[in-house]
Amino acid sequence: MFKSLNILDDSHKVLRQVSKEVKLPLDDKDKATIEHIIKHLTYSQIEEYSEKYDLRPGMGLAFPQLGKLKRIIVIVDEYEEGKFKNYVVCNPEIVSNSTEIIAAEAGEGCLSVNREIEGHVPRYARVTVEGYDVDGKKIKIRAREELSIAFQHEIDHLNGILFYDRIDKKKPFYSEKEIRLI
Ligand code: NI
Repeated sequence: MFKSLNILDDSHKVLRQVSKEVKLPLDDKDKATIEHIIKHLTYSQIEEYSEKYDLRPGMGLAFPQLGKLKRIIVIVDEYEEGKFKNYVVCNPEIVSNSTEIIAAEAGEGCLSVNREIEGHVPRYARVTVEGYDVDGKKIKIRAREELSIAFQHEIDHLNGILFYDRIDKKKPFYSEKEIRLI
């Protein structure tokens, strides 16, 4: 029987704190939490299950969203219709980025933000992320476009930053001439 995660919303101050690096390999409890997150995010992107379990669709989650101040992020990317790839990164770091900036045309969403917030969030079009898997093996991921946005969004959570912090309040929308909208 699947039970949905208890995700904290942005009224909780824990979401504004900086998470701590984790020691590796992770313990069984953290590994179980990661499996639960993967299941939740995958189900949330499959209509049948998102309706059955009343899940808001989301492709990423960071540990602080569960009230755990640990530098662990999970992304479940539907790279092709019905096909998912999971990314779990402990102590992730962006080690390089493109100069090109993009933004999701429809804006970003977050499982901790239960309201619509309009505006473009400028992000690097491409990033290289380094970190460790759950067993402590070093990993390196190159991400572009939507996946690049997802990594930047989730790593922001580890530093207490929410996507709407990055929306320019005076000028929340960009034109295609300013940055590429995807
Ligand atoms: Ni989020």
